[in-house]
Amino acid sequence: MRSITLDNITEAVVGALSDDIPARNREILESALKHMHAFMKEVDLTYEEWLGAMEWMRRAGDISDDSRNEFILISDILGVEVLADMLDKKPTHNETISTVLGPFYRENPPVLPKGASIIQKDFEGQETVRVTGTIRDTEGNPVPGVTMDVWEDAPNGLYEQQDPDQPDFNLRGRFETDADGAYDFVAIRPVPYPIPYDGAAGELLKYMGHHPMRPGHIHFMIMKDGYKSLISQIYDSETEYLDNDSVFAVKEELIGTMTKAPEGADTDLVMTFDFVIRNNALLGDIAAE
Ligand SMILES: [Fe+2]
Repeated sequence: MRSITLDNITEAVVGALSDDIPARNREILESALKHMHAFMKEVDLTYEEWLGAMEWMRRAGDISDDSRNEFILISDILGVEVLADMLDKKPTHNETISTVLGPFYRENPPVLPKGASIIQKDFEGQETVRVTGTIRDTEGNPVPGVTMDVWEDAPNGLYEQQDPDQPDFNLRGRFETDADGAYDFVAIRPVPYPIPYDGAAGELLKYMGHHPMRPGHIHFMIMKDGYKSLISQIYDSETEYLDNDSVFAVKEELIGTMTKAPEGADTDLVMTFDFVIRNNALLGDIAAE
């Protein structure tokens, strides 16, 4: 196409896609191009706004490194990570619903025995909570030997890798379910925290007029060979921001209730939360469906 106009630009770019590219590349690019061009026309985007966006993306790249991916934060703020998770991890039976991994997971947390505490440093005013539950398959059979990684922020709103004053791997642990599929650990009641907003993601929040806060939650990664891994979070039913999470990751089914621990208990609070995971041998590998 020699003469590019407002009317033929989309056709021209889509037409530039080679016949040799994989069908999925074509499907993604064709749709993305059509939507992007239509969006620009709909808002009558100015050249200055386009250039501003390009510079903003450059700043997102500049602040990103091995431990910070600003583009993931940006996609979180736009509901894109949670949408990708919901599209890719649709439950097929009664499995516990997943939600986003978030940027603070660390591989190989300390392996701890059932009932142990993940607290390595005490904070003034902290409330301790014993979290217990059972992991079952979709038919209700308890699943022993499940690896469960848990992680959460400290009462100052920081994960340990964001805070030089916390011990390495504070508030992280790896547990295993017992013969009855039960797990048990001691944590701190999680508090709301802001996602990092000192970079391009923060600029976007300002542009949106939205806050950076997330409701208090504990992260879980649940894994066992032959079962579909589950990445999820439990939200404290009494935390703030359940209705306006800055990354849109809250699901009603993932809200847990912390109650006062019984007299003589070694924690302030207790919470029970059961999980259901998919047994691929029972239901077939989800990828094959
Ligand atoms: Fe988190």
